[in-house]
Amino acid sequence: MPAPIECLAPFDKTLDATPIHLVSPADLANGKRLPAGAREWAATVGFKAGEDSVCLVPGPKGSVKAVLVGLGARDAKALDPFVIAAVPAAVPAGTYKLATAGRTFAETAALGWCLAQYGFDRYKASNGKTPVVLMLPDGADPVPVWQEAEAVTLVRDLVNTPAEDMGPDALQDAAEELAEEFGASISTLVGEELLDENYPMIHAVGRAAEEGRAPRLIDMTWGDEAAPKVTLVGKGVCFDTGGLDLKNASGMRLMKKDMGGAAHALGLARLIMSRNLPVRLRVLVPAVENSVSGSSFRPGDVFPTRKGLSVEIGNTDAEGRLVLSDALTAASEETPDILIDFATLTGAARVALGPELPPAYANDEGVWKALEKASGDVRDPMWRMPLHAGYRDDLDSPIADLCNASDSGFAGSITAALFLQRFVGEGLPWLHFDIYAWNAKPRPGRPKGGEAQVIRAMLRYLEGRFGA
Ligand code: BES
Ligand code: MN
Ligand code: ZN
Repeated sequence: MPAPIECLAPFDKTLDATPIHLVSPADLANGKRLPAGAREWAATVGFKAGEDSVCLVPGPKGSVKAVLVGLGARDAKALDPFVIAAVPAAVPAGTYKLATAGRTFAETAALGWCLAQYGFDRYKASNGKTPVVLMLPDGADPVPVWQEAEAVTLVRDLVNTPAEDMGPDALQDAAEELAEEFGASISTLVGEELLDENYPMIHAVGRAAEEGRAPRLIDMTWGDEAAPKVTLVGKGVCFDTGGLDLKNASGMRLMKKDMGGAAHALGLARLIMSRNLPVRLRVLVPAVENSVSGSSFRPGDVFPTRKGLSVEIGNTDAEGRLVLSDALTAASEETPDILIDFATLTGAARVALGPELPPAYANDEGVWKALEKASGDVRDPMWRMPLHAGYRDDLDSPIADLCNASDSGFAGSITAALFLQRFVGEGLPWLHFDIYAWNAKPRPGRPKGGEAQVIRAMLRYLEGRFGA
C-alpha cells in the first residue's frame, strides 16, 4: 500500500500530468467543459457520468489523454473529499491533476484520493502497489492533506490488525510510538497497578486475559500545561468475546475492532499534534481484553469504581462502559475544558443509525452547535442522540448503586451513554461518540474494514475553538 505522502505531489509545471475532468450528466449532454473527442468516446463506451463512474479517454500510442469522472447528482462545487476517490483504482499508475480546480477544492479532493489507495497488506505476500499520484494546483498545500490521511490510516491499521497482534500490550506500543514521534509524555498502569492506583473496573474487566495481555490504562499528555485542556478517552477492548455472557459466532466475528475507540483517540491525537494545535492534550485509553477464563468477572458480581459508585454486573458483554467509567472519572479529576470519548459501545447504535452515521451525545448546546457545523463543513457525518434522563432508572440495581446493563432492552445506545454520563465530572462539557469504526460495505475511498469516523469533524471544531 502506498503511503499518503507518495500519493500527492505539490504543483510542478515541468510534470506531465493527465487531466481529470469532473463531468455531470448535463455536461455530457451539452458537450461543454469536455476535452476534444471525449463526448464521442463517452458515447462509444456508454459512459453516462453516473456518480463515481470513471472513463479513460485514449490518446495516441496506447496513452490516456484524459480521465472523466462522473458526478451523478453530486454538486460540482461542493467540497466533497470523495469526489474523485473512484479514480485511483480505475487508472494506470502515473501522475494526474484536476483539469480545473481551485486550491481548496483540490486539497479536499486530494484526501479521498490518498484514502482510496489504502490497503491493509500487513499479512499479504505481495504488497508493492505503485502509487497513483495527484499533482495539486499551484499554491495548494499537500501537508494538511497528508496529515489527515496519515491519521485515518493509523486508525484503519489499528482496527484492521487482528487481536492476536493488537492486544492491550500492542495497543500500548502503538500509543508509545505516537508519543515518541511528537515528543508527548506517556505512562501506563498495568495489571495489579490498576488496583493500587484505584482503577478497579478496568482491572475487573481485563483480569481474565493471559499475562502478557494484562489490562492497563495508557495515559499520554502533550502540549503546554497552561493551554486549554482537551482530553480524549477511547475504548480499548482489544477483543470482546462478551466474557462469560459469551457472544455467538456472528456477534464475535468483528470484535477485533472493539478497540476502535482507542484507535480514534490516537488518530485524533495524531491530528492535533501534527497541526500543533495550542492545547494541552491528554489521551486516556483503558486497554483490556474481555476474555473467558477462571478469573473472568461474572454476571451478578459487584465492583467498586474509581468514582466510588458500586456497579452490579448485569451482563459481562456491557464491558466497554465499565472500563470507560474509570477512565472518565480520571479524566474529570483535572477538569479539562472539553472531554471527548470514542467507543464501539453498542450494537443498538447500529440498529438505530446504521454503520455510517455515528450517534453523538453532547451535554453542552454551544459545543454541539459548533460541532454540527464542523461536521457538515468537512462532510464527516454524525447524528445527535438525546441523553434522555427518563431512562436513567433503567440502570438501577437492587444491590448496588447502578447496574451496567438495562433489563428493558430499549434504547441501548442511550442507556450506555447515560451510564457513562454518571462518571463525567459535574458541569464538564462532554462529547460521546458511539462509533462503528468499520466500513460494512466498500465505497470509493473507503474500503471494507476499519474506518475513522468523526475525527475530521472534531479537528475542525477544535481548530475553530482553540486554533491560533
Ligand atoms: N462491543 C460491543 C458493541 C458492539 C457490537 C459494537 C457490535 C459494534 C458492533 C459491546 O461491548 C457490547 O457487547 N454491547 C452490548 C451491550 C448489552 C449487553 C447491554 C450490546 O450492544 O449488545
Ligand atoms: Mn461487549
Ligand atoms: Zn465491547
